[in-house]
Amino acid sequence: MYGESIFDKESRFWKNLSLDHCTETYDKLDGNKPVFLQKLCQKIEPHHSILELGCNTGAVLFALAEKGYSNLSGVEINAGAVAFARRRAKARQFPIEIFHHDFPGFFREHGTRRFDWAITYGATLELLHPAFDIFSVLGRVINQGVLLCLDPDAQKFPRWYDLLIRRHFPFAPKESHANLLGGMRIYEGRKNP
Ligand SMILES: C[S@@+](CC[C@H](N)C(=O)[O-])C[C@H]1O[C@@H](n2cnc3c(N)ncnc32)[C@H](O)[C@@H]1O
Repeated sequence: MYGESIFDKESRFWKNLSLDHCTETYDKLDGNKPVFLQKLCQKIEPHHSILELGCNTGAVLFALAEKGYSNLSGVEINAGAVAFARRRAKARQFPIEIFHHDFPGFFREHGTRRFDWAITYGATLELLHPAFDIFSVLGRVINQGVLLCLDPDAQKFPRWYDLLIRRHFPFAPKESHANLLGGMRIYEGRKNP
């Protein structure tokens, strides 16, 4: 399509997915999500602001809200998933802010917003064309650090996540989480020791 950017092209599949697919697959707290949630709660204070990248229907955000986290936001490209998450936030009276954007669009529109932490789970950043330097952007807008559950060897754009994250978040524990199901790893990076 004339005028379509590389980022539009790469995210078209997710933009057009039906809600059935989203809710059935991503709304469950299964797979590595319990381990990831445990890690988030160990590392992040309940009053810290959190931005989830590719939150879909917000399963992780809602689980955090139930644990007392009060400053929660998510970015998601799929309109059905965004509507579902917003309806649920309203019904449950959780003040979770869900932005309907692709990643480049969100940071373009909300470039002055700052968050303490960025988190993500599942194939999200691995689907983003490397021409958009998400790690450099996160280095600018995130105050404390990142906890990113990624699959380093699969998905569309496998990358050297350790190096990319460490460039902007140089303080990280040494332990590896390579043994998560399906080869996923939790990458942690912090701005300060
Ligand atoms: C594999 S799913 C993971 C969903 C959720 N994090 C989970 O694991 O339950 C990838 C999510 O990222 C979203 N996504 C993919 N590319 C995106 C982009 N460029 N901008 C914003 N969201 C995107 C998809 O719509 C989808 O909700």
